[in-house]
Amino acid sequence: MEERANGRVLDVIRSRRSIPRMKPDPVPRPLIQQLLDAAVWVPNHRLTEPWQFFVLDGESKHRFAEIRREWRRSQLPDPHAPGVAAALERVYQETVATPAIIVVTSHVSDDPETREEDAWATFGAAYAFMLGAWAHGVGTYFRTGAMRDAPALRALLGLPETRRIVGVLYVGYPAEVPQRRRTPATEKTVWLDRP
Ligand SMILES: Cc1cc2nc3c(=O)[nH]c(=O)nc-3n(C[C@H](O)[C@H](O)[C@H](O)COP(=O)(O)O)c2cc1C
Repeated sequence: MEERANGRVLDVIRSRRSIPRMKPDPVPRPLIQQLLDAAVWVPNHRLTEPWQFFVLDGESKHRFAEIRREWRRSQLPDPHAPGVAAALERVYQETVATPAIIVVTSHVSDDPETREEDAWATFGAAYAFMLGAWAHGVGTYFRTGAMRDAPALRALLGLPETRRIVGVLYVGYPAEVPQRRRTPATEKTVWLDRP
C-alpha cells in the first residue's frame, strides 16, 4: 500500500501526551469542527454513528466548571477540611480557563453488544480527535471518572436516557508537555506460529 504521510502519523501517535496545563489562547471554532469532522471517520460496526459532541464555551463552560467543582466536593470525606475550599476554587478556575471543553457522548442501544461496540467507536472518535488536534499543535486531555453520571451534567446537556457520557475532552494549546513512559510493545506482544 502507498505509504501515507511519510510516517508522520506514527510521530503524532507517539508524541501525543495528555496535557494538564494549557495556554489561555482560544482554539478556533473552525479547527474544532474540522477535527470533529475527521474524527467521525473511525471504524464503526454497522455504521451506527453513535456519537454526539457537546462543545462547551462561554456560559455553558462556567456551568460545567460549577458542576465539576460541586461533584469534586461531594466526593470528599470532609469538604470543610483546611485547604479544600482553595483546591475546589482551583478546579473551578482551571476548568473555566480551559479554551474548549467537549463532552463526548454515545448512544445507549437496547442490544448489549451494540452498546459496547458503540462506546468503543465513540472513544475511537475521541482518540482520532486527540491525534488530529496534536497534529495541529493542539493539546487534549480525555477524562472519564464518575462525574460522567452526574445528574447536573446530564441536565446541562439535556441528555436523554438513551445517551451516555463516554468522557470529557479538555482542549487547548499546551503550556507544557509532560513526559510519560510506556513499556515497549515487544514485551506485550505474543507472536504465534513463528519458527
Ligand atoms: C478511557 C480513558 C479514561 C481516562 N480518564 C482519565 C481521568 O478520569 N482522569 C485523568 O486524569 N486522566 C484520565 N485519562 C488519561 C490518562 O490518565 C492518560 O492517558 C495517561 O496518564 C497516559 O498519559 P498520556 O496520555 O500522556 O500518554 C483517561 C484515559 C483514557 C484512555
